[in-house]
Parts: sequence; structure tokens; C-alpha cells
Amino acid sequence: MTRITDRTAHLRAAGVSFVVELRAPLPRILHWGEDLGELTDEGLAALGLTADGVALNNSLDEARQFTVWPTEADGWSGTPAHQGHRAGTATTPRVTMTGAEQSQDALVIGLHDADAGLDLTLTYRLDPSGVLGVHTRVACPPDASGTAAPYDLSATTALLPLPNRAQEILDFTGKWCRERSPQRGPLAFGGHVREIRRGKPGLDAPHLLTVGVPGFGFRSGEVWALHVGWSGNQRWLAERLPEGAGVHGGVLGGGELLAPGEIRLGPGDSYTSPECFFAWSDEGLDGLAGRFHTMLRARPGHPSSPRPLTLNTWEAVYFDHRPERLLALADTAASVGVERLVLDDGWFLGRRDDTAGLGDWAVDPQVWPEGLSPLADRVHAHGMQFGLWVEPEMVSLASRLAREHPEWLLGPSVGLGPSARHQYVLNVAHEDAFAYLLEALDALVAEYRIDYLKWDHNRELHEAVHRGAHGGDRPGVHAQTRALYRLMDALRARRPGLEIESCSSGGGRVDLGVLARTDRVWASDCNDPLERQTIQRWTGQLLPPELVGAHVGGPRSHTTGRVADDSFRLITALFGHAGIEDDLTARTPEQLETLTRWAALYKEVRGLLHGGRVVRADLDDDATQLHGVVAPDAGAALFCWVRTRTSVPAQSGRVRLPGLAPGRGYRVRIRTEAGLPSVHQITGPAWYRAAVEDWVALPGTVLTGAGLPLPTLNPGQALLVEVAPQTTAH
Ligand code: DGJ
Repeated sequence: MTRITDRTAHLRAAGVSFVVELRAPLPRILHWGEDLGELTDEGLAALGLTADGVALNNSLDEARQFTVWPTEADGWSGTPAHQGHRAGTATTPRVTMTGAEQSQDALVIGLHDADAGLDLTLTYRLDPSGVLGVHTRVACPPDASGTAAPYDLSATTALLPLPNRAQEILDFTGKWCRERSPQRGPLAFGGHVREIRRGKPGLDAPHLLTVGVPGFGFRSGEVWALHVGWSGNQRWLAERLPEGAGVHGGVLGGGELLAPGEIRLGPGDSYTSPECFFAWSDEGLDGLAGRFHTMLRARPGHPSSPRPLTLNTWEAVYFDHRPERLLALADTAASVGVERLVLDDGWFLGRRDDTAGLGDWAVDPQVWPEGLSPLADRVHAHGMQFGLWVEPEMVSLASRLAREHPEWLLGPSVGLGPSARHQYVLNVAHEDAFAYLLEALDALVAEYRIDYLKWDHNRELHEAVHRGAHGGDRPGVHAQTRALYRLMDALRARRPGLEIESCSSGGGRVDLGVLARTDRVWASDCNDPLERQTIQRWTGQLLPPELVGAHVGGPRSHTTGRVADDSFRLITALFGHAGIEDDLTARTPEQLETLTRWAALYKEVRGLLHGGRVVRADLDDDATQLHGVVAPDAGAALFCWVRTRTSVPAQSGRVRLPGLAPGRGYRVRIRTEAGLPSVHQITGPAWYRAAVEDWVALPGTVLTGAGLPLPTLNPGQALLVEVAPQTTAH
């Protein structure tokens, strides 16, 4: 779909257009958003002609331009695309285009900054899903003067324009056990800037910074969004200036947040920024989510095998690693249908609690006298996969590793700052530390035929500096992040088929950088279904359900103390990569029977849940939620109707099930394997009473057009509604 003339490049995919005018000295962005169709030369010229706005009073003497690389050189007073200096000089870059190349889906623009002596390469790749990936390479040519000071790169920010009508912003914050808590409001003039200095995206990560035409919802509205695909420090922004951004209204921008002096380029050195992913949709938040899900599912490395029902041992046993207890747990897990058992924290040297042991990645013979083989063998004998928890980037001072290699720690030479969860950070970029970790992890994977690593990361990186080659402490988050990626890549290259989960005190490292080398994320340490409904809803704004771990905890949540009915916990955990986080050996035979039925249901519906379109209804009553997954051909679906608290409206009225085809015939039934919700009504709607017993034929016009009255649930309850194609028999 790409079209490039002498002057203009037009990338098109899935209803999105991105148009750049390749004029000298610096190309300008003419359009990003709705597909403009096949533009003729005249059409492209017209777009260029209309890209000049007003020359404003008391401003530049000519109309402002929005270039591919906005800086003060264009009269741009917002966040610049680039900042840096060479020993305090070369602070006003003046770049010129050196060339542009285009392929089917990408535009690559070369720039040269004569003042700083830098070569820059901007790459725009429009994925078939319509998501635009942008990154920049900044290079210091090898033949740069040997005597010149190195170039200190301070920031590289990918910037794309927003129209004036984009005036409402949605992004996310959070804390431990409440990740991806939405925050929404008007986009005021000035910058909405999120700077992440935690050495990871964090539990309060922006996740997907979205700006839209006010009033956008799940199913409708025009929206523009950004995700910074990086696991280290980062900057995200939406910015509006009164004078606009060229002819546009504002900008969306992102990149890595660099510490002073962190990237210092000598002759021959280069820096490549993280990929920033930009998406546009005129179909609201579901439209954006759909683009990201499509992009992720098309990756060659996207998990293709059915996502195994998992049991993770953390909330089941914590640090109580008596082998007989875990063997019994494995047997019970197998009997209910679990397909993967993951041994969580507590198995390695000295790790009797969370104050010691991190770094000593060898099995503790005091707890596991025969190593992990008895458990791993039992798990494999049951036909289950075996997984193991590790936290490779961390170290306890009470460990052999910290005693033998204090020089491997990441921290100031004057002394370490405060510990967090009694732990510090290992400098993974240290060659020897890297080699140790790779060998230790590889040996474990080989010895116990480990299928899966739960890769945790439980503290933030503060004062993350290491000893520089010429003395002095140098900032280390960038190098640490790249080293983490290298470590995961190297391990996976040695052990093809090994799956990795990105966990970070729950969902503190959920980003498309780490997901390029992992197979799922742990969304949260909170298994309370009331919290989980929201956490999963918004984690799904970026990730499809198969990448999001969702476990059934015990009846009383370990992290909130709240008690939830079995059915609510089970139904909530279905909408992800499902698992169990509970001591099954303590459950009654009836509870195990329900779990077994639920496990079978998960296996039955996971094909749909992990391959279909995620849909979320816009409802008037925010005490209720309706979400689901619809098959790509809209022929089948599974919906979840949830009430989180009571509300004044006594009944739902007709609720439209999103995503179905109005013209098709369907049948509907209530899935009862996980149990039925408790309700606040004398009797439910007639169709519902019938659908609890058997399929009920209902046309698409009723389901998705007129809508269905739904039962009034008690708070903390959920209901599963299955939709299938109408058959001739019905
Ligand atoms: C934090 C994780 O999020 C938990 O699931 C668990 O693995 C603990 N760490 C173990 O220390």
C-alpha cells in the first residue's frame, strides 16, 4: 500500500494513513490517522499545500511546520525530538535530510546534524494491524574527529501530531495489587508528561497513553495512542501548545528517559531508541486494543500452543517447601486438570524467607535433599509442564553471591542506598555476572527439564550506577535493560521452547520490549476478582488475553482480605491465561469437582478466548461491566456480565452484546460449570431462565441491536453467557 513520490511517502494499512512530505532540509508529517485512500500526485500535493497553517501574530514570521524531528530550529517550543551536547556545545541541532528509503511497510529517513557531527536514522514501520512503530538511531561516525569530546545524548523522543479535536486523555497509574488504574480528564494546554524512573515500567506504568475526541468509549470515538516498548526508564507525553504543532493541535511522544551522561557517543558509537508504538482508531478503545492484539498475535514467536492451565505455588505454600506437601499439591493439581505446575519462590539456597538467598541459583539441599527432581519428575509423569520461579536481576546481601562478588552489585561506590524487600540489584551488564546468570539458569533448565520460568523483579532500580571503565560511577539503567534482553535472548536461543513469564511484584513489567522475549505477564499479585476485573480489563487494552496470567485464588483474597464466591473467582480467571493460586489439598471434594468442571470449560473455550476479538460494552451503570471475546468471524462469543457493587438502577434494561453481527442467527445459553451468581431479583428475565436450561435462539438484531435484559446480580458476582451460531435444529 506504500506510495512514495519524489516528494511524499504514504504508508497505509488497516484503515490508517501516515503521510510524510520528504522536502529539504527536513521532511514534515502531513498526516497520521484515518486512511486517506489511494492519493494521486494531485491529492498528495493538495495535502502538502494545506499543511501550512496561519502565520501567527507575535510569532514566527512564517507558518509553523511540524517536521519529523521537531526542534527549536523549526520554531518548535514543545518537547524536542532530540537533546544533547558535546561538552556543552552543539546544543542547537540543525539537521538536513540525507536520504529516504521506503519499502512496502516502512519509511526510513536519514538525517545529518552538521553542528554535532551526528547521523540520525528515523524508522517508521506501519504494521499490517495499523500500529505505527517508530524508533531512532543516533550515530557518531567512525571518522569523527578523534579529539572532539564525546557527544552526550540527553533525549530522543518520537513525536507524532494530534489534531485539535483530540482533547481528552486517558492513561494509567497504580500500585502493588492495583495495577492499571485508569485516570482520565481533559487534555489541558501544556504537557501531560509521565517520567518513569523506576528502572522498569512500574506498577503505575502509563501502559497506553490515549488521547481522543472527548467522550470516546470502548466501542466508539476517535482515539490516538502511544505505548513505549521498553523495560527501563521512559518518558511519555501528550502536549498541546496554544500555537499548535504546525497545522496540527498537539503531539504524542515517547522515548527512553536517560540519566545525565548515560549515553555518551564517541566515534563509531551509536544509540538506538526503544520502539514507540502509535495507534489510531475511530472505533474507540476496543478499536485500539484490537490493533495491538492483531499485531502481537502476528508475531512469529507469539505462543501458538493452547495456553496450559497453570498452578502456581505462591499463595498455596509460600516458603513452606516441604517436598511431600508439594508432591501432594502436584497430584491434586493433576487430578483437576492442571497442565503446568510452577514452583514459586523458596527453593534455592538459604531462601527460607524473603531476607536471603537471591543470587544463589542452586537448589537448597536442606529443603530439597534430592534436588527438585522428585517434584519435576512427578509433574512430568502427570503429563504436566514444570515451571520454576527465578529473580535473576536481584541479589540479597545475605547470599554467597553478594559475599563473593560485591563488585557485581549495581549501586554507588560510596555505599548502597535503602534495600527494598531486603534486596538489591545485580549489574547484569557486568560480563561475569551475565555469564554466571546464563550458566546458572541454563543448568537449571537442563537438569529439571524446565518448560517455563516465572521471571520476577521485585524492586525498583534506584541509584543504579556501576563503576565506569575510567573510574567514577556511571548510570546503568540503559545497559541493565539491554543486558536483561540479551540474557533472555541467549537463554531462549540455548533452550528453544522455554517459555518465560514477565512478573514484577505482579504487573510491574508489562511492556512490549520484554514481551518480545517472554510469553506472558503476571498481571497482578491481587487475585481478588473484584480488583482483577478492572486490572484485567485494562491490561487487555494492550495485551490479548492469552498473554495475561489470571489465577483463581482462595475464597478469601490474600491481598485484600475480601471473601468472594467460587463462581466469581472462577469466571474472572477464565478471561486470560488461566491458572490456580491456591492450596488445592485444603479444598473440599465439592470444591475440587467445581474446579475440575471449570478446568474442562477453560480448555473448551480457550481457543475462542485466545484468538477472538476482545469487546467491552459502554454501559450507563458503572457498577456493572459487560465484556467478552467474539470469534473473528463473529460466529460465536463468550460474554461476562459482572456487578461490582450495588447501584440505584434496579435493572439493566436492554443491554446490547457488542461485536456480534446484526444479520446473523444466534443461540444463547448460560454456562453453569463455574456456578451461577447470586441475584437480587425475584426471577430473572424470561430468556435467561430458559438459557440456564438450554440453548435459546435469538437473532443478532436482538442480541446486538435491541439488546437483552440481564439479571440483576448481587455485588461481587459474574455470569457467563455463551453465544453460538443458530443451527437449523433451532
Ligand atoms: C512477587 C510475585 O509477584 C509473586 O507472584 C511471587 O512470585 C513473589 N514475588 C515471590 O517472592
